[in-house]
Amino acid sequence: MAQDRHHRSTDLLRRLQQGLQLTGWPVYVKRLLNWPATTHDAHLSRLAIAAAKLILLTGSFSRDISHWVFLTGRLYLVLRQGYIITIPVFGNRMHKQIELERRFGACNYHPLPVVLTHGDGCYVWDTDGKQYLDMMSAYSAVSHGHCHPRLLQTLEEQAGRLSVVSRAFYSDRLGAFLQRACELSRMDKALPTNTGVEAVETALKAARKWAYEVKGVATDAAEIIVCRGNFHGRTLAAISMSSEPEYRKNFGPFTPGFRVIDYADTAALEAAINSNTAAFLVEPVQGEGGINVPPRGYLTSCADICRRNNVLLICDEIQTGLGRTGRFLASDHEDVQPDGVILGKALGGGVYPVSLFLARRDILDLFQPGDHGSTFGGNPLAAAVGLEALNVLLEEGLIENSALMGEHLRAGLHALDSPLITDVRGQGLLVGFEIDATRVTARTVCEHLMDSGILTKETHETVVRLTPPLIIDREMIDSALVTIGDTLATLTK
Ligand SMILES: Cc1ncc(COP(=O)(O)O)c(C=O)c1O
Repeated sequence: MAQDRHHRSTDLLRRLQQGLQLTGWPVYVKRLLNWPATTHDAHLSRLAIAAAKLILLTGSFSRDISHWVFLTGRLYLVLRQGYIITIPVFGNRMHKQIELERRFGACNYHPLPVVLTHGDGCYVWDTDGKQYLDMMSAYSAVSHGHCHPRLLQTLEEQAGRLSVVSRAFYSDRLGAFLQRACELSRMDKALPTNTGVEAVETALKAARKWAYEVKGVATDAAEIIVCRGNFHGRTLAAISMSSEPEYRKNFGPFTPGFRVIDYADTAALEAAINSNTAAFLVEPVQGEGGINVPPRGYLTSCADICRRNNVLLICDEIQTGLGRTGRFLASDHEDVQPDGVILGKALGGGVYPVSLFLARRDILDLFQPGDHGSTFGGNPLAAAVGLEALNVLLEEGLIENSALMGEHLRAGLHALDSPLITDVRGQGLLVGFEIDATRVTARTVCEHLMDSGILTKETHETVVRLTPPLIIDREMIDSALVTIGDTLATLTK
């Protein structure tokens, strides 16, 4: 039903646009009003604002309007001069959800104004039944696609059997999951957590413990080296490592013991190491930092420097791991064997939070009962889902597909040859393109892509990320490239 409704409305929109193009008019869709735009709006009456915007708009353009159509929650005004103006005037259901979220939820995110109700594979649908290609994948957590049948089945079966027992007892699920994760990442042991940042915290604690108990660093003197532009999560320790002022403002005082060096700078790493250095924590490709791919050989050199200086190399593969870059781990591209690896996001198969810190036996064996833990970490439901997520990844060829489709996507972006794109970067299906900030923001590009049926989100002001589920196929990418090309062409005018 919803799909039918969607097809009818997109068809109508397509015909409307095609019709206008046939007349030879310079058609483009320009968002003049951005509703709902600011958090202040939430305090005012929705109707009053919508009415004010409409009066304002029609007041200034009324003589120019030749047609109007209301479609998928938006009012399209066709001007005689050949322009279309779109005003997002959401239907009651859609708008109510945004209003509710804003009124009762902390505004610690800036979502695009779309309310999603369901997903299937690479697609999601909003409350009006409009279909979108998901090129965001929940910050790479939905690599298997939405509602993967095998993962849903595992989730349902395990939830009906046993979900949470805490680590006060053993379960018949955790061991097998940890074994598979260790084998695939060539690590000896793993410590299960829920969210990625908890696994990062675990890695930091393990590195400090190793520095004091093995390396012989003086009490409370351990240092961990991290990179400028890193993203390791949002806890106090994680933002204490961050070089991003926005993440840190008014959250001090910060956790001491971190040194920040430039990313992809091996000389800086060598120079920053001293006798107190416990570990170097690095993302093989910086995701949130702007899809920054270091030069080939960087990780190999880092591993070499760390080994020579008795410093642990810990790779945060929460975003880059599990096939996202076209190999099981991004560090596999250079056959680097880190001392510790952090996994999360896609490990939960897009249905449940599952994360791990994996490391050498001599590092994780330092933890004693009571040293560290989490009530939900490693519960049977998480373990069952995590194991199935790994199995699906391998058995359904998602990693190979990521490598192939990533190459195809990047080649297609280059071929667009848009003056708005200043750079295309990525590895596998962790792809981003840099936007010429003097002409348009990445946010505006994402808003226009949303209108055209592609969902993604900017990282920083200038990078549009494209990180679809790893099950995406060539036809979907080709169609996305057409949409991206048209959108950029529209914004170039
Ligand atoms: C590289 C990296 N590390 C850590 C995190 C934090 O993970 P979570 O949001 O699950 O805590 C993220 C999340 O985006 C990430 O990309």
